[in-house]
Amino acid sequence: PYLDGCTDILSELDDKYVLSLRLNRPKARNALRTQLLHELAQTLGKANRDEHVRCVVLTGGEKVFAAGADITEMADKTPVDVLNDPRADHWAAIRTFNKPLIGAVNGFCLGGGNELAMHCDILIAGKNAQFGQPEINLGIIPGAGGTQRLTQMIGKSKAMRMVLAAQFMSAEDAEKAGLVAEVCEPELTYDKAYALACVIASKPPVAARLAKESVLKASDALLAEGLAFERKAFGTLFATEDKAEGVAAFMEKRKPVFKGR
Ligand code: CAA
Repeated sequence: PYLDGCTDILSELDDKYVLSLRLNRPKARNALRTQLLHELAQTLGKANRDEHVRCVVLTGGEKVFAAGADITEMADKTPVDVLNDPRADHWAAIRTFNKPLIGAVNGFCLGGGNELAMHCDILIAGKNAQFGQPEINLGIIPGAGGTQRLTQMIGKSKAMRMVLAAQFMSAEDAEKAGLVAEVCEPELTYDKAYALACVIASKPPVAARLAKESVLKASDALLAEGLAFERKAFGTLFATEDKAEGVAAFMEKRKPVFKGR
């Protein structure tokens, strides 16, 4: 492995300067528990300082990218817990990773999983990919930039449909909407992303870094305020009965009953 001691992230650096990362919690649909985000942040932190890494590919495997934050970890969290949550620091490390990051997405790409995908600079998706922000079903909203990045990427109306109605978007529609760069057969997703990473890794690394930072500047100024607002709103919802009900219903595998409290 590239970084010793990781279990939730599998990693390998090759002689093409490409670091491959794979989310590794298949039984939980790669749900992003805090340990996973910590490992990802640590790995990217090391890669940021390592001249042998020029491009990173992030995948969840052939069946699923990630089904979002780990809902079992959210059950007892209060707004103060969210305010103090180390997850925010892990997300910041992912957000500030300054080398090109290519996402290879198959299957479910939901909630925090979709937010992680949107932290990637380029997305390649298998035909079986499904994108969604179903947090509202749990009585909460996206908390890692989903409301902001999705709106920037696919526009208000389609973003609202995903965030308010929890409707999923197919890979084909995601390509049309501009969320992903390319759609392919699911068994080719990683290979396509890797081939693209090799091309990028063959370019001058300093120019690639500054190109990435420059492209992100096209939206960064607007993003900062929106991210801060979203984070507060997300935490506030942890005080609601509907959030407790939404999470409990998921864990008990039943339909939630929401009351507006
Ligand atoms: N957290 C924790 N566990 C999860 C999970 C999650 N997000 N998603 C799936 N799992 C677990 C299930 O509980 C189940 O565990 P058991 O085998 O122990 O019962 C296992 O993974 C398999 O899940 P399913 O049986 O439900 O598999 P499926 O193929 O029928 O459905 C799915 C897959 C559509 C992804 C469904 O599991 C699902 O809807 N998951 C929740 C998606 C979601 O709401 N994501 C948003 C999370 S909130 C968030 O991300 C907040 C944020 O923005 C920061």
